Amino acid sequence: MKNQMEARLQECCDELKWLYCELYHNDQDAFEYFVEMLRRCYAQRKTALRRQDEARLKNPGWLRSNKLLGMMLYVDAFAGNLQGVEEKLPYLQECGVNYLHLMPLLKTVKGKSDGGYAVADFRSVQPELGTMEDLEHLADACRKAGISLCLDFVMNHTSDEHEWARAARAGDPMARSRYFFYDNWDVPNLYEQTVPQVFPTTAPGNFTWLDDCRQVVMTFFYPYQWDLNYANPMVFNDMTENLLFLANRGMDVLRLDAIPYIWKELGTDCRNRPQVHTLSRMLKLACYIVCPGVALLGEVVMEPEKVAPYFGTPEKPECDILYNVTTMCTTWHTLATRDTRLLRRQLEQVCALPKGCLFQNYLRCHDDIGWGLDYPWLSHFGIGETPHKKYLNDWFTGQWPGSWSRGELYNDDPRLGDARLCGTTASLCGLENWDQLQALRCDLMLHAWMLTQSGIPVLYSGDEIGQLNDYSYHEDPDKWSDSRYLHRGKFPWELAELRRDTDTIQGQLFQGLRQMEQIRAAHPVFCADALVWPLDPGDNGVLALQRRYGGQTLTALFNFSEHPRTLTNPAPGSRDLMTGAEVPDRTLELQGYGFRWLLQEDADV
Ligand code: GLC
Repeated sequence: MKNQMEARLQECCDELKWLYCELYHNDQDAFEYFVEMLRRCYAQRKTALRRQDEARLKNPGWLRSNKLLGMMLYVDAFAGNLQGVEEKLPYLQECGVNYLHLMPLLKTVKGKSDGGYAVADFRSVQPELGTMEDLEHLADACRKAGISLCLDFVMNHTSDEHEWARAARAGDPMARSRYFFYDNWDVPNLYEQTVPQVFPTTAPGNFTWLDDCRQVVMTFFYPYQWDLNYANPMVFNDMTENLLFLANRGMDVLRLDAIPYIWKELGTDCRNRPQVHTLSRMLKLACYIVCPGVALLGEVVMEPEKVAPYFGTPEKPECDILYNVTTMCTTWHTLATRDTRLLRRQLEQVCALPKGCLFQNYLRCHDDIGWGLDYPWLSHFGIGETPHKKYLNDWFTGQWPGSWSRGELYNDDPRLGDARLCGTTASLCGLENWDQLQALRCDLMLHAWMLTQSGIPVLYSGDEIGQLNDYSYHEDPDKWSDSRYLHRGKFPWELAELRRDTDTIQGQLFQGLRQMEQIRAAHPVFCADALVWPLDPGDNGVLALQRRYGGQTLTALFNFSEHPRTLTNPAPGSRDLMTGAEVPDRTLELQGYGFRWLLQEDADV
């Protein structure tokens, strides 16, 4: 009798073969190798994981539950190493976290690591953080504790110290064909005419000259991150095997780092090429065949019309989860302008997407905030892109008169006036130097808004206790030039000790968040299947929306200004979920940075 994997392979073989052979010029040998590799990876998948796969196939909505709460963290900053993380699982459980994204932890080279995003070996863990056995042990412990694990799969490039890169440097033509090597600058210069820069200040240019072998190599990110050539089927085959290797160590979600960049084509901007979608669909099929319980999170930090296609279609899905990046940066824009209209418009756009689309919602992550706002729309209000970015950056770096925010610029490109921004949520909300209670309310309101959105809310480690910026990276020779380290500081355990003491800022933040998270988990109206629509509360300082599911309607209101507001109550006769009080009034008071979650049962409406 055929096993379940063979049945799934049969089910998708036609599509897989079609896509593969079209992309790789009918290379049958490479395709056969690919299929054998899938069989090999399935043979290595342990029983506990296969069982979980089957369970998830029966419950495909496992990621859409209102009970899911994520956190992302750096292993070393949080607990030193992987064993440390395992010891700290009770803390994460106290935070209510059941989805944990561990930042890159595979082998990398100190001083040339880009925070772990330059992988020198996809099969081993960075020695200071532990071993592959430690990772698998942690994954087992998480599975028992009901925590899903997410790991980055850095697929666009390898470190220049990866074995393929070393062989390529030494002149091996097969290895060179895995990258983009050139004898001179002719072709690189042609690319430079159409390809924008990812790190214009910290790593200008898209190619790097290798003096030892007198070659030019493509490096869209840092010079030590060599772009892989996915036009070579062996690259796709081996990278897929690396992905499945990590899945077999017990990862539940794999984050496809920088996926829009993986197909290069001269004369284009080398972003979001149609072939990228062929590749991501094939990755999804590979996972479905070998490890159907594993989900793919696409890192597509782009404007909304570029993001949504990475979901694929309901019949031919690609990524299971995508970052809600425009909502994230529009949220910060709203805080600086106290004008919720653009955020309401953004919410309308997200609500209009097909129901199956699942977003990861967040306020902060390990990266900077890029101001990818809807400028054509803002221009109707006389707001221009360059001056507005400058305003936002001035506001969040505390340069604007009256601003309490304390961020730092990132990749300031004076040519384009295009700087991005770094900082922790708490520092950006003013907790470093402003009225602490006001800053705390602002921080909690933003988290409430994040928890109200459909999808998976993911906290940035440290935000649950208001971790501030870490300025010590200025002194570190490996880090000083990359301001993203501002919000990658060591986790302050001494402050976390205060989390149960509600006389402290940490306690108020931690307990306030816990209360919101528990309410979210207890009410299915927060699940990703709910209907959601924005409301016009009659006041541009306030964002209002409703969610509806299973006979319940939630009205959520967020005051993005520091001043109190009085509104007509859009949900009379409702119950305030935070206080438990009935809300019979025709009018509602919202304190500065206040929010309300008002619930109506069908019977009340
Ligand atoms: C992604 C990561 C970022 C990294 C880049 C290069 O965008 O989020 O931190 O610098 O990829 O790998």
